[in-house]
Amino acid sequence: MKKTMSLYIHIPFCNSKCNYCNFISIVSSEKEKLTYIEALKKEIKIQAKAYSNIYSIRTIYIGGGTPSSLPLGSVKDLLQTVYKYFTVKNNAEITMELNPNTVSEEKIEEYVLSGVNRFSIGLQCINNNILEKMGRTHTLEDFEETLKMIRNQGISNISTDVIVGYPGQTEQDVLDSVKYLIKQKIPHISSYMLSVENGTKLKKMVDKGLAFLPSEEKVIHMYQNIVNTLSRSGYVRYEISNFAKPGFTSKHNLVYWKREDYLGLGAAAHSYVAGIRFSNTENIKTYVECIETTGKPPICNVKKLTNEEKKEEFIMLALRTCEGFDTNAYEKEFNENFIATHKTILTNLTKLGFLTLDNDGIIKATSKGYLVLNRIVLELCS
Ligand SMILES: C[S@@+](CC[C@H](N)C(=O)[O-])C[C@H]1O[C@@H](n2cnc3c(N)ncnc32)[C@H](O)[C@@H]1O
Ligand code: SF4
Repeated sequence: MKKTMSLYIHIPFCNSKCNYCNFISIVSSEKEKLTYIEALKKEIKIQAKAYSNIYSIRTIYIGGGTPSSLPLGSVKDLLQTVYKYFTVKNNAEITMELNPNTVSEEKIEEYVLSGVNRFSIGLQCINNNILEKMGRTHTLEDFEETLKMIRNQGISNISTDVIVGYPGQTEQDVLDSVKYLIKQKIPHISSYMLSVENGTKLKKMVDKGLAFLPSEEKVIHMYQNIVNTLSRSGYVRYEISNFAKPGFTSKHNLVYWKREDYLGLGAAAHSYVAGIRFSNTENIKTYVECIETTGKPPICNVKKLTNEEKKEEFIMLALRTCEGFDTNAYEKEFNENFIATHKTILTNLTKLGFLTLDNDGIIKATSKGYLVLNRIVLELCS
């Protein structure tokens, strides 16, 4: 029987660049987008030669950038290429990211008929003034229209992204956004604390004193408020930034957190297959040229993880999830009794209320621990 893997397909185009975002995406013409799609289809075919005999596909994630900024027909074209060269399981979760005001009834119908069964919509905030400050090109009303179109196509598996801590955003804005999504019966919410990234408009504005970030305590307070509100409404915080109603966790994201195999296709896409991490070039032009001229994906940064790196990833990724860090599974993989080798530090971190350790050997981060997870992981790995 074949093993299973996931596919991530990167679409590096946006209709405009948001002020805070440094993901690999650019504003491009329709011609450039179609050229990219042709290269991507070739990469799917090339990679299928290497992997499709060994793996069948259990989840697909079309992310970006803004996949819904592609012209009509491109997503269908891509997914049909995947189905042609890979075996995709019948019950596969197929997610696509959408931006409000880049879609139409026709586009959504195309996506659903092509097999997309889960949508992730970027809302970020329900306050239209803040959306404008973020450089978003949509309003709350656009989001509502998008939601209606998706539901008209019979899809209920919907996720929405929100950002916490944007300059000018009040605690009430954040809380109202989450309450609104609960009222709209959105079953999955990803809530990200704002990260001020180098090279973004926001970073320049903050550096020049033109935008003011809320204090760390305020952001933590806002976030804790969200966590409590969502929890009261039946959402489970199944990962540090992700909340879902029962039955609506993202199967694709769980693959990343459980260190299972996934193949990234497209410029800047990352992969993890059989203990090796690798990624394609971030340069879209180079990506297309390489595929067209050499027939090979422009893979760079190939890294076979050492045992120490694997241990670190195991701990870091497991502690992000509500299932926690299973020290029995760790011992099975690395032949090391983690609790015995880290007794002192574990006792300290549990006493301080950052971690819990149960009788079955499961270590979990508490909500206090989530706030300093990177530091905890560093301590556990030293
Ligand atoms: C790469 S974007 C793609 C989704 C889609 N293009 C959109 O904007 O709706 C995925 C999500 O990352 C989050 N994000 C991007 N940059 C961020 C930043 N600097 N800080 C926090 N969250 C960020 C946003 O919530 C966004 O919806
Ligand atoms: S947040 Fe989304 S729409 Fe905005 S620039 Fe980033 S990828 Fe594009």
